[in-house]
Amino acid sequence: MSDFNRRDFLKAAAVAAGPAVLSARAPNEKIHIGWIGVGTRGYAGLDWLHTAAPNDVQITAICDTYQGHITRALDSMQTIWGNKPKTYVDYRDLLADKNVDAVYIMTPEHLHHEMAVAAFNAGKHVYCEKPLAHTIEQGFDIVHAWEKSGKIGQVGTQNRSSSLYKRAKEMIQQGMVGNVHYVRAFWYRNAGPNDPPSWRYEIPPEANPQNTDWERFLGPAPQRPWDPHRYFQWRLYWDYSGGISTDLLVHQTDIVNFMLDKTVPKTCMASGGIYRFPDGRDVPDCLSAVYDYADKVQINYSCYLGNEFFGYGEEVCGDEGTIRVMNRLDLYFEHETFNSRRPGAPDRAPAYIASRKAVHLNGETDFHERDGAINHFRNYIQSILGKEEPIAPPRIGQQAAITGHMATLSFKQQKKVVWNESSSQYSFI
Ligand SMILES: NC(=O)c1ccc[n+]([C@@H]2O[C@H](COP(=O)([O-])OP(=O)(O)OC[C@H]3O[C@@H](n4cnc5c(N)ncnc54)[C@H](O)[C@@H]3O)[C@@H](O)[C@H]2O)c1
Repeated sequence: MSDFNRRDFLKAAAVAAGPAVLSARAPNEKIHIGWIGVGTRGYAGLDWLHTAAPNDVQITAICDTYQGHITRALDSMQTIWGNKPKTYVDYRDLLADKNVDAVYIMTPEHLHHEMAVAAFNAGKHVYCEKPLAHTIEQGFDIVHAWEKSGKIGQVGTQNRSSSLYKRAKEMIQQGMVGNVHYVRAFWYRNAGPNDPPSWRYEIPPEANPQNTDWERFLGPAPQRPWDPHRYFQWRLYWDYSGGISTDLLVHQTDIVNFMLDKTVPKTCMASGGIYRFPDGRDVPDCLSAVYDYADKVQINYSCYLGNEFFGYGEEVCGDEGTIRVMNRLDLYFEHETFNSRRPGAPDRAPAYIASRKAVHLNGETDFHERDGAINHFRNYIQSILGKEEPIAPPRIGQQAAITGHMATLSFKQQKKVVWNESSSQYSFI
């Protein structure tokens, strides 16, 4: 498998998790979970939480503004968990429920801010999906509410809980790839020939203004008449989403930050457009963003929703080797040959570099995990129990979100964005 010892790696990861936080919970008492948003991600999460922490938690409340999703979630709860949680349409009623200790927030991006702030203020622990918030300013509000609350916060950038990325980070720290000044990251997707355009998710035929609470969906967004496209395909519209920047890119800049111990890049220049799916959407389907960090590291990011050939990946290009994590499933290390990869091109590496054997790890066969999501859920629950530290607290989630917002700002203004670390403000040049 590799020239590293897996047991040592796991030990190192456990140490990196840090000291336990104190818990006020009585032993054997289950954590009561309130779940806000049981759409695509939230519905899948009900199952994942059962895998992650079946004995430590009980889902006691569910909130959603579309009745069809509540009904579907209750069915799933009955099958997987064997209980029927209380249901709510207004998340504030769920937060007022004394039988809820901790929440999962899996609603559209523009709602995270008010929900996460209110949840921390109500004294709940909070797992909030990425991006932390819809704007940089809102993200800082959440960070402040979290700090004030003393509660556990976890943001849904689950790559941080993937053993593959933890392993990649360790290999980089051990010097396997030498100095790193350059990372390529990309996410290429396509819609099948008979599929609707990317992100044009199916609208349930029975959805209507009577069984869907449009006003609560809009929340702080501009008022508009009922529009099921906006409700079920919110990713396509600026009012509710940053599109590629905050939906996809944040995962990848976040994990580069994690692997290289970075926070927020100094500059970002983004470009793109709606090239493949001119179907009335606001957000680009093709976006490239170049980030430079203050200490001479660049991320070259690209995403296109019209060709899947290169898939998903982060490629850490060190001057002595390359680590690639592909499709959140495979990790490859190869030493630098100081030559192209053409057949017959000689390996010009000196012995101390050539001796670093190639590595290939597969998430499923080597770590029994598909991506980090279940570990990430477990880490949240273990943190509430006082046994671990959250691996993606709001401060870290905010760093990831800022990179996404920088790309959106640069794309919209067609200017380079500069991040000022000391004032936490951006400007354009
Ligand atoms: N970490 C990941 O890899 C990952 C993957 C997919 C989605 N996500 C994130 O999860 C979140 C949800 O995405 P999704 O794809 O599940 O969207 P979705 O549209 O499928 O689900 C959103 C759900 O929220 C409900 N909702 C809308 N307004 C509400 C309100 N005011 N109160 C309560 N419920 C409300 C909707 O009815 C729907 O059921 C987003 O932040 C997204 O970025 C993360």
